Amino acid sequence: MNVVLGVGGGIAAYKAAELTRALMREGFTVSTVMTSAACEFITPLTFAALSGRKVITDLFGNRSADEILSSSVEHIEVAQQNQILVVAPATADLIGKFANGLADDFLSTLYLAFQGPVVIAPAMNTNMWQHPAVVENLAVLAGRGHRIVGPDAGALACGTVGPGRLVDPEQIVSAVVAASIGKTDLSGETLVVTAGPTQEPIDPVRYITNRSSGKMGYAIAEAAAARGARVVLISGPVQLKPPAGVELVAVRTAYQMRDAVMEHLPEATIIVKSAAVADYHIASVPDKKIKKTAARMSIDLDPTPDILAEVGSKKGDRLLIGFAAETNDMVPEARRKMQTKRADMIVGNFVNAAGTGFDSDVNEVTLVMSTGDTVPLERATKKELAHKILDHALRLRLALHNAV
Ligand SMILES: Cc1cc2nc3c(=O)[nH]c(=O)nc-3n(C[C@H](O)[C@H](O)[C@H](O)COP(=O)(O)O)c2cc1C
Repeated sequence: MNVVLGVGGGIAAYKAAELTRALMREGFTVSTVMTSAACEFITPLTFAALSGRKVITDLFGNRSADEILSSSVEHIEVAQQNQILVVAPATADLIGKFANGLADDFLSTLYLAFQGPVVIAPAMNTNMWQHPAVVENLAVLAGRGHRIVGPDAGALACGTVGPGRLVDPEQIVSAVVAASIGKTDLSGETLVVTAGPTQEPIDPVRYITNRSSGKMGYAIAEAAAARGARVVLISGPVQLKPPAGVELVAVRTAYQMRDAVMEHLPEATIIVKSAAVADYHIASVPDKKIKKTAARMSIDLDPTPDILAEVGSKKGDRLLIGFAAETNDMVPEARRKMQTKRADMIVGNFVNAAGTGFDSDVNEVTLVMSTGDTVPLERATKKELAHKILDHALRLRLALHNAV
């Protein structure tokens, strides 16, 4: 799929180079259009070298009238050849031009000629961002159905602290992926997705955790949001940025995860429990670091709440999907877990397989369903599997509904 990346003249223009790479990694072909102000911050050569394609910086170029008229009209051609327009960083100026239909350079003219989905990632000084003119212009763009990603809050290059920082490129990629899918079969649904490990403190400096990276749960959250769902992502500590458009609830321990899940359960229509929740914890954590005194030490562990079973007992007609990471007897274990926890589907994950499972970008899973079906899914990226799991979840819900 072809994406045209419009780069505006802000300090964050350099991050558009990283975004180009990230979009290409996701399989998009990227063409770049830079405003003349953007060329003050970063050279077209950077984007040409990264994308392997010509970079457009000028509406007329240094071409004669004959040259302009003998070739196709470039901004119309670019509008037709690309399926998605992403503007990052979107300056206050560009947002104002787009909102008001001004077309005095290539990017703003392309915007008017472009008919596909538009992703806007604003970045500017906090005062600029909060100026009523920018607020109103942005509301116009949101009202046109454009996906507005960010900005983040934090320390800005201009020295102020507050909202205005360009979001992480991966979040812009999520929004572009969402725009590219164009599938809205989950609109009206609320998915509560748990992801990542939990950390169970031993003392103020130590904890027990596991190898879950959160990638599978984050991929499901991203896929569901891309397909139109409202997504509440309840995540243990991970090294991942939340996908664009999801509501992140950050937790640390199994008890915190349980409380967050139960709080959001009433809103959920589908619950996906992909987090690797600790089975045991230390009930009374000392408030001082445990000193090294003896050659041997032992720690008493108590069981943590069984969140899947608790949700299973209270789920009503919600669809409940659990995960089972097993090193052996995966399918029988997944089936046993599904029945005892009253889940509708268990995604069985054979964690011994080389190159899959924990922290990997690829996975190989088998879906065990309450209808009795077992569906092995071929090895694929976690992002691809996320969509397949959601496809099967929707089919399963229909089958369960029809069976009633
Ligand atoms: C050093 C410097 C940094 C700037 N950073 C930003 C910025 O982050 N966001 C923004 O909206 N404008 C920023 N501006 C102002 C824009 O460059 C200016 O409004 C320009 O006309 C934008 O042109 P464009 O929208 O065609 O790219 C900055 C200007 C300078 C001199």
